[in-house]
Amino acid sequence: MALPANPLPKFDRLPKHVAVIMDGNGRWARKRGLPRIAGHKVGIESVREVIRAARELGIGHLTLYAFSTENWSRPKSEVGFIMRLLTLYLKRERSELHEKGVRVASIGRIEGLPAALFKELKACMEFTAGNRGMVLTLALNYGARQEILDAARRFPRRASGGRARSGATDEDRFSALLGTAGMPDVDFVIRTSGEMRLSNFLLWQVAYAELYFTPTYWPDFRRPQFLEALRDYARRERRFGDIAPRSA
Ligand code: FPP
Repeated sequence: MALPANPLPKFDRLPKHVAVIMDGNGRWARKRGLPRIAGHKVGIESVREVIRAARELGIGHLTLYAFSTENWSRPKSEVGFIMRLLTLYLKRERSELHEKGVRVASIGRIEGLPAALFKELKACMEFTAGNRGMVLTLALNYGARQEILDAARRFPRRASGGRARSGATDEDRFSALLGTAGMPDVDFVIRTSGEMRLSNFLLWQVAYAELYFTPTYWPDFRRPQFLEALRDYARRERRFGDIAPRSA
């Protein structure tokens, strides 16, 4: 009997929500004597592989940090290249993502993106809106402090001070005002390239997340590296401040 080309390992425990800080594209390229943009281009292949593996494993939510509010300070030519790359990616992958049941979502101030990318992103989100498979959230022009401040401005001045009659706590009601409203908290953060920072990514949502840092540059972070990260997650005990481990 023929075996599938890439059999997936079985995991005792998988995160419901994985968030990835894709870092090291520039260094990957420089190491090879290539311009930084070459790293971003090859990084797209890692994006494809990680999305595919996550979807096949049945991970519900994958959130990718594609462009932060701080990234605008890069050279104009690099910013322009990343924006065009993202636009092209969405244009090319829309049908495939839809066929596989992926719903594309976004967080961040997307109205501040170049018009072509904004239009493509909107089209992709609308096209896949009815899908019930994995939710792929792209963080674009995103900054967590800004997201938290925006939510704080909209939070009713008189908080209930605990559990409201609806059963929702103030924390639940605050979470519902964030870009990630309706999504589970992040269980697992992966950052590539050896940097050990959160860089203003999902600061509220990662409160109890497990963190995974790898020296691998993003363009080299493919399916085997992603599976290795998930094996590491499966080995961890999550206690949420309690004394006994809880499953998640
Ligand atoms: C970090 O590497 C990468 C970025 C800021 C851009 C990430 C964008 C992509 C991989 C493009 C595709 C994304 C999607 C979702 C389709 P860096 O430039 O900071 O690398 P360095 O730290 O080595 O300079």
